[in-house]
Amino acid sequence: MYIAHTVAELRAHLAAFKRPAFVPTMGNLHDGHLALIRQAKPLGDVTVASIFVNRLQFLPHEDFDTYPRTWDSDCEKLRAAGCDVLFAPDEKALYPEPQTCKVHPDPALADILEGHFRPGFFIGVCTVVMKLFQCVQPRVAVFGKKDYQQLMMIRHMVRQFAMPIEIIGSETFRADDGLALSSRNGYLSKTERAEAVQLSKALKVMAEAVQAGERDLAAIEARAMQTLTERGWQPDYLVLRRRADLQAPVPGDSLVALAAARLGGTRLIDNLEIEALAS
Ligand code: PAF
Repeated sequence: MYIAHTVAELRAHLAAFKRPAFVPTMGNLHDGHLALIRQAKPLGDVTVASIFVNRLQFLPHEDFDTYPRTWDSDCEKLRAAGCDVLFAPDEKALYPEPQTCKVHPDPALADILEGHFRPGFFIGVCTVVMKLFQCVQPRVAVFGKKDYQQLMMIRHMVRQFAMPIEIIGSETFRADDGLALSSRNGYLSKTERAEAVQLSKALKVMAEAVQAGERDLAAIEARAMQTLTERGWQPDYLVLRRRADLQAPVPGDSLVALAAARLGGTRLIDNLEIEALAS
């Protein structure tokens, strides 16, 4: 695996390839990331991953400084998964001057749900992804569906800027008990880890209520909020939204249930796609 620490090194190495397949990450890699690499591999003539903990997408009180940096094991895992090139710039290499030119995604999508609870988050995500795309110039990029709103935002950005990149959404990778894999799961204590599965369970209960024909979506959401709150969680949202734009659904829409909730000091997110509501 070739490791590039600067944009110049990366570009020089990738000049020999026509169709890079790209997986951007913030490191602390788990099996979910490696599944993205394996999915990307047959889609291009070179498989590129990036590791960059992007300060722009962290709020001042969030975990930028303590975000786990696990360089040696990340490199080992990427090699084993068949990654060809790792782009790992430091902050000076990716942001040599303050990044004052930023991507401001559509507020209709960027300011709801995650964007409501983490203001500016998607400006940070879209800005770094735009910049990484300029560096790698991929023809295809793979993102996990676990970050559902992020995936939608990237698709929208790529469409609006006519970027010649195919965006692939990869199914969420789950532990045996159903917990969505996340770099932040490592923050959970043993007791919290056992409890954490309740988030995906709550989404499942919401989906089952819809599929059983219940039409009062607000009541389904309220019950899910209450269940988790009573178990000691601090939920930000548990909602049923239209898949197309994450707005309030009408009958006939395909739905997705989305959740974000804090368990102790750890904020977890998850989602579950649900089949169409009958009209
Ligand atoms: O999903 C992530 O890990 C990050 O948001 C991304 C896409 C690598 C941008 O920093």
